[in-house]
Amino acid sequence: MSVRDILRLGAPSLRVPAAEVQREELGTPELLQLVADLVDTMVAADGAGLAAPQIGDPRRVCIVELRDNPRYPNLPPIPRTVLVNPKLTVVGDGWVEMFEGCLSVPGLRGKVRRPRRVQVRAFDEHGTPLHLVAEGAAAAVVQHEVDHLDGVLFVDRCDPRTLSFLNEYEQYVPAGVRIVDNAAQGRCRLEPC
Ligand code: NI
Repeated sequence: MSVRDILRLGAPSLRVPAAEVQREELGTPELLQLVADLVDTMVAADGAGLAAPQIGDPRRVCIVELRDNPRYPNLPPIPRTVLVNPKLTVVGDGWVEMFEGCLSVPGLRGKVRRPRRVQVRAFDEHGTPLHLVAEGAAAAVVQHEVDHLDGVLFVDRCDPRTLSFLNEYEQYVPAGVRIVDNAAQGRCRLEPC
C-alpha cells in the first residue's frame, strides 16, 4: 500500500481517455495494488472518490466512498465501491446540482448540474460484475469519477460563474444550495439494483 502523488489540473495525462481493463487483469496482484493505492491516496486526501488517471495510471478504474468526510460534510454516506470499466446509463430526466471539488483541482468548487439517477454496470477489482443504481449526490460523485476516465474534469462542466475558492465557497454559498436535488423526496444512494 502506498499514498501516491495526485496529478493536478494541467497535467496532460488527466486529459487522456483511460484504457479498458482486460478481463485477464481482473484479480491480478497488479490490479489489486492499483486499487489499494487508490484507496490509500483517497483516504489520505479526504477525497470522496479517486480515479486511476489522477495517480498517473491510464486504466479505467475508479473508487468512490463517503464517510464522515470533512471536505463534504453535508453528504450522506456512500459505501466504498470499486468500479472497473464502468458504464453509466442515465435514468429519467431529473437533475442534481452540486458544488463539486476535485483532488486534482485543489481549493476550488464549482456548481455542476448532472443527471440525478444513473445505472452503473462495472466489475469490481476481482472481476465480479456489479449492477448498481446511483441517485442524488451519489450519482454526481460517480459521474465525476467516471468523467476522469474520459479525460473530463468538473471545471469543463461547471457553470464558470460559480467557481469559488474554498474559503469564499464556505463564506458565500449557503448550505442549502450546495446540493440541490430536483426530486422532491430525492434520495442519495449507491446500491445494488
Ligand atoms: Ni475529481
